Amino acid sequence: MGRTVLLYSVFVVVTLLSVSLVKAEDAYRYFTWTVTYGTASPMGVPQQVILINGQFPGPRLDVVTNDNLIINVINKLDAPFLLTWNGIKQRKNSWQDGVLGTNCPILPNSNFTYKFQTKDQIGTYTYFPSTFMHKAVGGFGGLNVYARSVIPVPYPTPAVDFTLLIGDWYKTSHKALQQFLDSGKSLPFPDGILINGKTQSTFSGDQGKTYMFRISNVGLSTSINFRIQGHTMKLVEVEGSHVVQNTYDSLDVHVGQSLSVLVTLNQSPKDYYIVASTRFAKQVLTATSVLHYTNSQTSVSGPVPASPADQIQWSMNQARSLRWNLTANAARPNPQGSYHYGKITTTKTFVFANSAPLINGKQRYAVNRVSYINPDTPLKLADYFNIPGVFSLDSIQSVPSDGHAFLATSVVPVSLHDFIEVVFQNNENAMQSWHLDGYDFWVVGYGSGQWSSASRTAYNLDDALTRHTAQVYPNSWTAILVSLDNQGMWNMRSAIWERQYVGQQFYLRVFNPNHSLANEYDIPPNALLCGKAVGRHS
Ligand SMILES: *[C@@H]1O[C@H](CO)[C@@H](O)[C@H](O)[C@H]1NC(C)=O
Ligand SMILES: *[C@@H]1O[C@H](CO)[C@@H](O)[C@H](O)[C@H]1NC(C)=O
Ligand SMILES: *[C@@H]1O[C@H](CO)[C@@H](O)[C@H](O)[C@H]1NC(C)=O
Repeated sequence: MGRTVLLYSVFVVVTLLSVSLVKAEDAYRYFTWTVTYGTASPMGVPQQVILINGQFPGPRLDVVTNDNLIINVINKLDAPFLLTWNGIKQRKNSWQDGVLGTNCPILPNSNFTYKFQTKDQIGTYTYFPSTFMHKAVGGFGGLNVYARSVIPVPYPTPAVDFTLLIGDWYKTSHKALQQFLDSGKSLPFPDGILINGKTQSTFSGDQGKTYMFRISNVGLSTSINFRIQGHTMKLVEVEGSHVVQNTYDSLDVHVGQSLSVLVTLNQSPKDYYIVASTRFAKQVLTATSVLHYTNSQTSVSGPVPASPADQIQWSMNQARSLRWNLTANAARPNPQGSYHYGKITTTKTFVFANSAPLINGKQRYAVNRVSYINPDTPLKLADYFNIPGVFSLDSIQSVPSDGHAFLATSVVPVSLHDFIEVVFQNNENAMQSWHLDGYDFWVVGYGSGQWSSASRTAYNLDDALTRHTAQVYPNSWTAILVSLDNQGMWNMRSAIWERQYVGQQFYLRVFNPNHSLANEYDIPPNALLCGKAVGRHS
């Protein structure tokens, strides 16, 4: 009798709980995106571009922390296609990451519905095509994750927030660019810089008000420097980190990176140049747009402000000035400083060195001598269905070694809840930009020359910021710390798309032998199957 009553009350409590859970459930947002070719003339000559729902660049996604996004992507191109969500962590859910190691590509005239949550995230992100050289001609867009109403952000709400997708651009078609790379050649230097798919746009605001500029480098290969004539910029956010709000005259943004600044229109009413120009390259390409005061009668004038004369040392110093605001919260109310990442003991160190070897007479790019090749079966599916022979867990060494470069489908095995140190060693004379899917990581150090264990004494173990893409300067190193709290198969790649396409990438398999939905979601029922996974039941 007593037991029944107890059970009954448990039932009532559970029922009430589930009712309140449903009520408190995070919003579902549904999108249908049709991907087609179209024609645009961003550089003055008509060329084929990739449209999403007729738009170039693609639609801007404005969402809120913890929103569930259901995005049905319909591929009307003549080639397999995938979108990846740059900086969205896909917690427990590498099934939705949209790269060839996790997803079968969406074949022409078919579709795939991505289902993912912007769990515990806030900030400025992007999405873009991960297949072939599609990214060169569009299909990308802004993805802004706003704070929930209950979470204060550490800056006043701007009058308007503008999204600026900035990147280098080619007049050459994406297929011709791919052909260059497939035949073992390097890409030529880009033809120009676009801001939101144009060489010129105007951003208008009222004198005295403050505006946010969310800036992302969506280009293929070149770092950019961003500045606004006559105005300073207060940096407030970098890829989801709320940073110490320093003021800058100009900011370097490397390929794949995002940040947001506040700009107060505190100058005399007139129009001002907004400038983005290439950095660390022999040629300087410049795009100018306009900051228009609504009470302005005067169009832009005077010299276009120049980028800083000093290149690498200036940029490295600026990179070191980006620091976490330890008392500010991020997507959740706990202060960023409460993580004390610098006190956690690392379980393993990796040193990944990029190189540009010729393999079989073709220009390739490699990491610790391994140049990655995509398999027909996504690694994640091979892992899930226990399909042997798709990838190797021991081809890539954890530190650089001597010998010839070779091709392999390289996966680095690590354990869930490890805390790793990764050093990107760049012995080339070219700028690097490294991205990790599924995570953000602390960027604890930048240095010149060869990294050694002594380099650790200069690490920032107190207020380094977290981000998802870190630059590595020529003949230099960058060190990051990663808390491996997200099980799955995660792409670590060069954000410089040519390098990624011909081998400068691999996957990190964050693994736990115990199968548990608490650690990783199950394969989605609509997962596309391809390669050796065809016909397997999901
Ligand atoms: C394709 O779209 C339909 C709705 O039009 C949807 O029911 C189906 O799940 C989608 N296919 C995949 C693989 O997501
Ligand atoms: C850090 O964030 C707090 C809000 O938590 C803010 O009041 C403070 O001004 C910020 N400090 C800096 C240096 O940006
Ligand atoms: C797997 O689960 C068992 C039982 O819950 C636990 O004792 C063990 O530590 C787990 N192993 C790992 C690697 O998490």
